[in-house]
Amino acid sequence: MKDLSNEMLQEIISEVKPLIGKGKVADYIPALAQVNNNQLGIAVYTLDGRIYHAGDASTAFSIQSISKALSLTLALSVYEEQEVWSRVGKEPSGQAFNSLVQLELEHGIPRNPFINAGALVISDLLADKLITPRFSLMELIRHLSHNPKIQFDKGVARSEFKHSARNSAIAYLMKDYDNFKNQVETVLKDYFQACSIKMNCIDLAKTFSFLANRGTPVGHKETLISPKMSKQINALLATCGLYDEAGDFAYRVGMPGKSGVGGGIIAVIPGEMSICVWSPELNESGNSLAGIAALELLTNKLSRSIF
Ligand code: DON
Repeated sequence: MKDLSNEMLQEIISEVKPLIGKGKVADYIPALAQVNNNQLGIAVYTLDGRIYHAGDASTAFSIQSISKALSLTLALSVYEEQEVWSRVGKEPSGQAFNSLVQLELEHGIPRNPFINAGALVISDLLADKLITPRFSLMELIRHLSHNPKIQFDKGVARSEFKHSARNSAIAYLMKDYDNFKNQVETVLKDYFQACSIKMNCIDLAKTFSFLANRGTPVGHKETLISPKMSKQINALLATCGLYDEAGDFAYRVGMPGKSGVGGGIIAVIPGEMSICVWSPELNESGNSLAGIAALELLTNKLSRSIF
């Protein structure tokens, strides 16, 4: 890949570093509030199998909502498309990721699979099909990243379970509308475990290479999902992956992406590369402040995006 180098990524880290201090580490999950805010990493995995990285790219963090893109991939692999889309929509929400407002107005059908309500429906679907959804997800992640050492962070999962009033309310509201089949607590536990998974930027960039490579993970022989499904997931990431900031992210960065309140963001340029940035301080939409800036610099320096 022309121009792309570890030096370029190091330059991006240096240019973005002054933003640290201008955001806020997530504290509604108390265990996340303990994370050192002064961290910033970036990793890029290209379709020829090269990995480029800089900063704290080897430090593991809580992937949080990044897991929602993988849970959706799993659900679309074990269900007929229509079974999934009869339970959750495909439209941007324009609301905060954990909002309840639209859910009542729209009769318990979440706008998309990436807001909390949508991800909880996906977890509910997985609970019907898989014996232990969290382990199926972990198996997929270890396989895609080639890293068998990836683990759940039980402390983070427990901390979120103790402060789960809002997610419980979302799930019970959907139950009232008959869009949630299993026991709320059981599904919440699986969902929190998925969010708690600890990974670093390098492993995440590798994990999402299938979305940059028409459904086949780079360096693997077997296809994970079809090129059509890969296009579909990328389209949803581009329109809904950064919640009520999806438009601004498309404008500044121009890539399908998925953020998490741990401060990570994955992004892909189909046909070229998968990327992960991480910095724990968030902006008002719950997305990594420095992470978005780093992606914006990368797209501008490389002069590449999906648009
Ligand atoms: O359910 C929650 O609120 C968190 N486990 C995940 C939210 C999240 O990561 C939103 N992303 N920016």
